Amino acid sequence: MSQGVLARAPVERRSLLGWLLGTSVGAFLASVLYPVTRFLIPPRVAESSAAGVTLDVKAASIKANTGQIFKFGSKPGILLRTSAGELRAFSAICTHLACTVQYREDLRHIWCACHNGHFDPTTGANIGGPPPRPLDAFTVSVRGDKVVVARSVLA
Ligand code: FES
Repeated sequence: MSQGVLARAPVERRSLLGWLLGTSVGAFLASVLYPVTRFLIPPRVAESSAAGVTLDVKAASIKANTGQIFKFGSKPGILLRTSAGELRAFSAICTHLACTVQYREDLRHIWCACHNGHFDPTTGANIGGPPPRPLDAFTVSVRGDKVVVARSVLA
């Protein structure tokens, strides 16, 4: 009787080890494959259907030769006041490889830090570096003391 118990023990141990190894391998594969799959097939993010956005900033408080990033739906935009005092807004997504641009007060224009791309602050035109085309322009208007940014009619 005791020989029967001893003879069965290695088989049970082996099956337990096999089960543990199988679940460990399965958990490892799931922990690797899930993030890789999410990276390769990102979730669908709805495009902003907003035609415009009212910014929480007073127009009079925006100094000349300054810029700031704002959210236009799910994407960044850049609002700036040129050295000449005009309010302008553009998509803040660089047309090269989609980095977020910024306003450089020392250069007096929009700049992309990723590959040293330069954009005109008045038109959004690409004026230096690798960006292949201008930034998408938005329409800026002032209602009361609030700044309203809308998709450009021509865009
Ligand atoms: S991503 Fe802006 S210059 Fe390359």
